[in-house]
Order: sequence, then structure tokens, then C-alpha cells
Amino acid sequence: MTKIEQSQFSIPKKLEKLQNKLLNLRQTGKLLLQNGDVGIASAPSNIALIKYWGKNKLKFQEPDNSSLSFTLDHFRAQTNITVRGRFFPEGDAPEYVPENLFHLTDSESQKSTEVIPEKLSKFLKRILHPYANDIGLKIESENNFPTACGIASSAAGFAALCFALDNLLNLEKHFSLLERQYWLSQWSRLGSGSALRSTCLASSSKFVSWELKKNGSSEIKNISYHKEWNHLQHCVLILDSKEKEVSSSSGHLFADTSPFYKIRLSYVEENFTKFKQAIEEFDFDFITKFTEYDAFFMHSIMHTSTPQAIYLNTETSFVISEFVRFRQKTKIKAFWTLDAGPNVHILYLQKYHAQIKRFQKFISKEIGRKIKVYE
Ligand code: PMV
Repeated sequence: MTKIEQSQFSIPKKLEKLQNKLLNLRQTGKLLLQNGDVGIASAPSNIALIKYWGKNKLKFQEPDNSSLSFTLDHFRAQTNITVRGRFFPEGDAPEYVPENLFHLTDSESQKSTEVIPEKLSKFLKRILHPYANDIGLKIESENNFPTACGIASSAAGFAALCFALDNLLNLEKHFSLLERQYWLSQWSRLGSGSALRSTCLASSSKFVSWELKKNGSSEIKNISYHKEWNHLQHCVLILDSKEKEVSSSSGHLFADTSPFYKIRLSYVEENFTKFKQAIEEFDFDFITKFTEYDAFFMHSIMHTSTPQAIYLNTETSFVISEFVRFRQKTKIKAFWTLDAGPNVHILYLQKYHAQIKRFQKFISKEIGRKIKVYE
């Protein structure tokens, strides 16, 4: 194994550089992994206030628009990786390569699965194959919130996996913080675009952007924010916890068939700087208006693309309209947003917690069943 075998497990050009460095560390005996070595990490999920929806088909995992999210520190994935097999400097060919194993537990619903998703399998091959094609990994991951129902479980999952790989490979020893941040963001986007916004190494990363640069590439940024945002709370009303029918990976690919697609791209890019400024200045009303617009904008694109992707249900519309009515009456500082699913996320200032509880109760009463809330 002397050079990256790119064709089979294609990766962005930029990543080849990292893979070659890792390959070199292996060849010089500085990166040795053995059966039973472990990497452990946890990562938060995030909810986009400005959504990433649609990607540049000519480039590898580059978004068509800048996005920005609020980190959900209370929704986390915890991942342990254990090496199966051997990993020594190049030499004897291994007799066999142990397969990758996967175990995902969703501690809220107590559901667990051993089936390794295709997306994960491909991700592991892309990331490991060039310098570690003779080991398998056992990946054990646990989410403290429901999986795959539009509350960004893949963001937390892939981010935790990347952090655990970083821990296993001891990247801290070989790379600067800036380099590690760069590689982590390059890795994570291969699994899930939104995961990238959960891989910020900065200690306080409440708002994270994934920004398009003039040269067409993109980068993550930890956004500076007004201290009043420390009082921002989040909850999500689970209207349906079934797995979504259309994955976001396929949704991104046909997003540009919607007549609203280009309109949204220019609207978002025009307002992106103002949005970041509103975070710095604590302009709550601007953030409210723009976040809610963009959630509707993204779902309008989903509804008008070919094929259509419809994630919302009648209860979603009911909850949103009742929430807006409730906000007008009570004058609370709060806003809603959606992910690729029917569940309604509410972000509000801590001092309005009692009112939000009242609203949650009201919704359960009106809908006629207990609506589960995660907060
Ligand atoms: O993370 P992906 O590649 O599955 O895309 C998810 C996109 C949304 O969650 C719908 C929006 C976002 O920006 O998080």
C-alpha cells in the first residue's frame, strides 16, 4: 500500500493530504493500533436556524448555501470505537480483515440496532481504507434522544464518530488544533453535512456556521454571540417519531428542481451577515423572523421539488399556528423551527419557561394525546 487508492473510495482532494500524512505515520511506525485499542468521544446535536439544503453536484460535499446552527448540548451521541485486528507498519499481508461491527442504542426509546447503515459503511471505508485497510472497528454508539426522526441524530452521531476516531488515532499528538479542526470538518461532512457544525473544537460553540467562501469551498466558524443568548433554551415537540421516508442525503440531490431553490439561495446569502450581526447584538426579533422564514422556505423547496419530499403533517401546521397565536398573546421571546421532519423545535428565553410548559400542555390537550417533549 504505497499510495491512496482513490477510485474505489473516492474522497475530496483535500482529504488525500491527511490520508497521506496518516499513511506516512503508519509507515514510519508512529501510528500503531492493536486489537482492543479504544477511542471514546461524545458530541452534541445541532439545530439549524439557517438551513443547509441542497449541495453543489460538481463538488464533493460542498453546500450550495451557508448555514448556521444552535448547538444542542443536551442532545448527545456517545461513541466508543474498539479496534478489531492488527495495525502495524507495512509488512506481512493480514490473513483476514475483521469486519466492522455497529451497535446503536437509543436510550430514550430503548431501541437498539446492529445493522450497519450503508452510509456508515461507506464512510468508514473512505476514511480508513487508505491507511488502515487491515483492521475492522467495533462502533458502539448511544443517543440520549430519538434517532432518525428529524432531530438531527446523524449530526451528533457522525460528529461523535469523528471525535472518537480522532481520539483513537491520537491526532492531537501529530497535528495542531487548527489542522485537527480542519480534518474533523472534512471527515464529518462525508457522513452528514450537518455533523460538520457539531465538530467545533472551541470550548464554547453555541452558534456555529458552515460558510461558503468566494472560491467555492466552505469552512466552519464559531460565531461570537451576545451573552444574553446564554439564556436561550430549546425543546422539541415530538409529533411523530417514525423514521423519515426520504433521507436528507437524497433530498439534497433533487432540491434544485424546485422553482424556489435559486430564490432562497440568494435570499440566504444576502441576509447571512445580518443574521450573524443579530446574534452579536442580540436582535431577537430579527433571529425569530429569519429562522421561521427559513424553515418555511426549506420545506417549500421540499414540497415543490421533483420528487417531492413531504415531512410535515397536519399536527405540525396546527402546533405552529397555535404557537404564533400564543406568542402574540403572551408576548414571550420565542421562535420555532423545523428540521427534515414533522417535529416542532421551540427556542425561547429561560424566563418564559413556565409559559412554554403551559403551551406544551395546551397542545397535548388540543391534540388529544400526550405529546412527548424532549428538552
Ligand atoms: O446533515 P445532512 O447532510 O443529513 O443534511 C441535513 C439538513 C437539515 O438537517 C435538514 C438542515 C440542516 O442544516 O441541518
